[in-house]
Amino acid sequence: MMTSALLLVGANGSNGHLLRAVLADFAAEPSREHYGLTSLGVFDQDKMLHAQDVVVGGWDIRSPDRVAGLHPGATTLGLTARHTDTLLGDEVEGRPWTTVLDGADLIAEEIKEFVIKAGCRRALVVNLSSPARPVEKEAGVTAVPGMLYASSADVPSAYAYMFGAIRAGAHYVDFTPSPTLELQGLADAAAEAGVQIAGRDGSTGQTYLKLTIASALATRGLVIENWYSTNVLGNRDGKVLEMPGVDRTKMHDKAFGLNSMSGLTSLNHRIDIRHMPALGDVKEAWDSVVFKDMFGNLGELQIRWKALDTPLAVQALLDLTRIFLSSCDRRAAGLRTDLAFFFKNPIGGRPRSPEYLFSELLSSNSDLLMANYGRADLPW
Ligand SMILES: NC(=O)c1ccc[n+]([C@@H]2O[C@H](COP(=O)([O-])OP(=O)(O)OC[C@H]3O[C@@H](n4cnc5c(N)ncnc54)[C@H](O)[C@@H]3O)[C@@H](O)[C@H]2O)c1
Repeated sequence: MMTSALLLVGANGSNGHLLRAVLADFAAEPSREHYGLTSLGVFDQDKMLHAQDVVVGGWDIRSPDRVAGLHPGATTLGLTARHTDTLLGDEVEGRPWTTVLDGADLIAEEIKEFVIKAGCRRALVVNLSSPARPVEKEAGVTAVPGMLYASSADVPSAYAYMFGAIRAGAHYVDFTPSPTLELQGLADAAAEAGVQIAGRDGSTGQTYLKLTIASALATRGLVIENWYSTNVLGNRDGKVLEMPGVDRTKMHDKAFGLNSMSGLTSLNHRIDIRHMPALGDVKEAWDSVVFKDMFGNLGELQIRWKALDTPLAVQALLDLTRIFLSSCDRRAAGLRTDLAFFFKNPIGGRPRSPEYLFSELLSSNSDLLMANYGRADLPW
């Protein structure tokens, strides 16, 4: 397979760091290479990208390698972020940008340089940076042309990275709860530039489980009356999410699938996120569900989930980027909805149960599957 560039925004964060380490490990010792989903027998490994086919780089505003321009394997100084990290007390530093267009041009130049230097055929930029506060309506920018001229004082840097990718002819995935993919006219702009975009907000644990349980209750004819979810986590992402306003899009994305599938609203579906530093990378989530049978009897379900946050996210990221890069040469430019399975709020797609979305993922990517694959070959 031809070499692909994988460029991470937030390359030194928990997810970026682990993703880079795992890919380096797999590339150095191919016998250790294995994935969560894409190692299932239904995927034809000869048609899938392998870690040796990927060259990784990226940007961060913490601990960059301080190289001029992007270098394979290195992380370059990112664009100044006024909308999240400056409030955290971290040691951050960024390169100034004035408008989205100005920042995008800077990023686009670096992507092109990287692709040439690393001898890549294609590039994928994945946003793994901290969530930002949503753009306020007063900024007056809800569509592509206006956003290009928005000031760095008004909008998060994610827009500059996204347009940088598009202008460089690189594909773009948003794994974060960022408002970027909601811009009017974005899918057309991507299609015109011949690139694919997909997102948003990786579905890696609690939300994934909630949609699975909700679909199981619904297929048993049981009606969900109330759902309360809380989660506590100790990592940096949890700290950022506690900053005022930053969790607004995350909360929306966490509620979106279940509300759309079950007709719940913010009155009977309540969600809470708390940062507890002592937990480190552990995330613990509790769900309390009240449902009703056809006679009006109430039943209760309590769920507790406790796991390391970052490895779960990176497992999903590895599968997502692997499917993306293995298939992108044969997919249409514009918004990719076949990858909805991986996201809490699949832009352009309808929220459905993970099992349904996984079936769609397989049928839309049948060229990556074993020739004789059938549903009966799946382990569920
Ligand atoms: N379970 C999960 O871990 C999970 C699931 C779904 C979505 N996400 C999202 O993925 C993202 C990454 O999560 P994480 O745990 O790695 O977070 P993290 O806080 O560890 O890392 C974020 C990184 O982004 C960097 N960053 C911030 N602004 C930047 C900028 N302007 N340019 C370049 N880099 C910048 C930060 O310095 C930091 O290193 C978050 O938005 C998170 O909400 C995570």
